[in-house]
Amino acid sequence: MQADGAGSDREDFLHLRARDCSVVLDVRGPSLPAVLHWGADLGDLCAADLADLAQATTPAVAWSTLDRPPSRSLIRQQSEGYFGRPGLSGHRDGTDWSPLFVLTEVKHAGAGRVIIEAADPAAGLGMRSDLELHESGMLRVRHAVQNQGAGPYLVEALLAALPIPAQASELLDFTGHWSRERHPQRHPLPLGAWVRENRRGRTGHDATTGLFAGGPGFGFRHGEVWAIHVGWSGNHVTYAERWPSADGMLGGGELLLPGEVRLEPGEEYATPWMYFAYSSCGLDGIGSVFHRYLRSRSSHPGPDRPRPVVLNTWEAVYFDLDRQRLLELADTAASLGVERFVLDDGWFRHRRDDSAGLGDWYPDETLWPDGLAKLIDHAHSLGMQFGLWVEPEMVSHDSDLYRAHPDWILAAGGRLPLGRRNQQVLDLANPAAYEYVRSRLDSLLSAHRIDVLKWDHNRDLIDAGHEGRPGVRLQTQAAYRLIDHLRHTHPGLEIESSSSGGARVDLGMVERADRVWPSDSNDALERQTIQLWTGLFLPPELVGTHVGPPRAHTSGRVQDLSFRTSTALFGHAGIEWDITEASDDEKAGLAAWIRFYQEHRRLMHSGEVVHADHPDPAATVHGVVSPDRREALYAYVQLETSRYAVPVSASLPGLDPAQRYRVEPVHPVNPPMVIQLRPPPWYEAGAITLSGRSLEVVGITVPVLAPEQALLLRVKATPR
Ligand code: DGJ
Repeated sequence: MQADGAGSDREDFLHLRARDCSVVLDVRGPSLPAVLHWGADLGDLCAADLADLAQATTPAVAWSTLDRPPSRSLIRQQSEGYFGRPGLSGHRDGTDWSPLFVLTEVKHAGAGRVIIEAADPAAGLGMRSDLELHESGMLRVRHAVQNQGAGPYLVEALLAALPIPAQASELLDFTGHWSRERHPQRHPLPLGAWVRENRRGRTGHDATTGLFAGGPGFGFRHGEVWAIHVGWSGNHVTYAERWPSADGMLGGGELLLPGEVRLEPGEEYATPWMYFAYSSCGLDGIGSVFHRYLRSRSSHPGPDRPRPVVLNTWEAVYFDLDRQRLLELADTAASLGVERFVLDDGWFRHRRDDSAGLGDWYPDETLWPDGLAKLIDHAHSLGMQFGLWVEPEMVSHDSDLYRAHPDWILAAGGRLPLGRRNQQVLDLANPAAYEYVRSRLDSLLSAHRIDVLKWDHNRDLIDAGHEGRPGVRLQTQAAYRLIDHLRHTHPGLEIESSSSGGARVDLGMVERADRVWPSDSNDALERQTIQLWTGLFLPPELVGTHVGPPRAHTSGRVQDLSFRTSTALFGHAGIEWDITEASDDEKAGLAAWIRFYQEHRRLMHSGEVVHADHPDPAATVHGVVSPDRREALYAYVQLETSRYAVPVSASLPGLDPAQRYRVEPVHPVNPPMVIQLRPPPWYEAGAITLSGRSLEVVGITVPVLAPEQALLLRVKATPR
């Protein structure tokens, strides 16, 4: 990585470099820095090269346009001739609405990090921009606007956006709903804008999570790709735009509701971090940037904190919590090798179903006459960690908390917001409400040995007002503050972020969580898609993946144990099934799968995640390659019946092209079901040895798998 300031007396250009990415800024002023390039690495550039680059990237002035080329500023402004979405929208009672910032300072803040300051004295505004190009290739950007004028200033939007070149003409983003999160959609980027707005007050099942722009047909292993992710768990916007001027931008930020940010003189509004990534080699390159960035954090659960196999009680017992039954569930789990027992919803006062109890964070005395400690101690005595479900940001209509403090909810206009799951949102920006929840959680954590909180959030925010103004931003900040406080006060405490399944998967939350729950669907077929696309942002160790019961509760599909376990293997694995009722064969299968996971989790939780651009949509091929590229584990997954009579060869990407590898099928539970007269000869022989190049370019044949089956392939480097 390199952050070059080039120039004589003062810096004229900044060239940030990491991995295969370069960012070049023209900081000659007097206007805001111009972004000359964000994309492929440009190599070493001297001051003269950078000046030439500025020339080379300055466009002609066409007829019937402004007299000078439009600005390419880091924050786009109409005052500089930009007609797309402005970086800053706001006003001071109808004035100061079209600022023109001038650069005041460029500060270096460590390797790859710069802080840029600017001001518009006439409008009474200051601006600060933080840019960090991490060694991982991740570029984090955030802006902060300060009110330096005389009356209040209303901020309507402050966005971070970077230019994308004309060849980035195709978009990929995501949508979904409960139990079907992060499903991809692709289309060309026309002239105009593609805008994804979220007003759910939480990240959302349908949140795009990220927006990708690339050349037509970009795939997992090919094509240049530019990406943005907004690291925020409240309302947000992500967009791509291209104008007849040829300007293209990828941007995003917090979506502010009317009047939500009103700056008094001297106050500032800072955006969340926006995460930008560039890849010269397809979506896997973007995934690597995200994974490397997240893995570089000191708080990241790396191989030194192996991800324990989880038993979560939700689909096992739902609200049917019976102490004896739970003790037996814990016994069975431990006997199979489970390492963490998570008591889900239903353990606290009045919570016999989802109609009551949220907010009453006391162990229910009728369920636990001798206290919760008995179950917790039992789990620990069996060698398992203990996790507890909470939903701290919510309150049930039917709860002691609501009865005592009906005014502690987020609401607008004096009316009760539309219900969802019989609950309302507790206004955590209200200090008394915050203090109540904080002290309940602190007490629970101090009184019991709780290793992890599963932090749930089961409704969208509607009419989320705080003291008459929109309160989503304050609420999101308060939730972050509460988690940060608990982690600080109870060192070692882990957090799992859940939100009606996967409605809170974003880097704002991931910066303070050790695991996300990506979906309430444990249907292995649905999970193949959900995990694939969630995995573009998050490495496997952060994504909860559970083996559900034979018939999936959310879809009714019946799937073999081998398919369910092969799917749940590629993540932070667990079980969500009443295994006291599983057959002996099923238990033996689960125990063998757990051993396999334990043997391979170091590889899977530190290796590079790869996907083949498999030409048959009826199947996928994905895997994890160890950092030294000496071993890997792949899955060939038959999603549905192919239009081909025999499967298309599976390319195994990401290995060392010059190295030879032994590829062998492995069946931790059972071999997948096949429908064929004879398997490929190498498969019958039990293994094959080929070079990394052959495995990627030519691939290997695979048996004719029935739909909803997966074949695991273990790959090890072998001497010639
Ligand atoms: C939604 C979560 O996604 C589930 O896993 C479970 O914890 C339920 N909430 C409990 O209410």
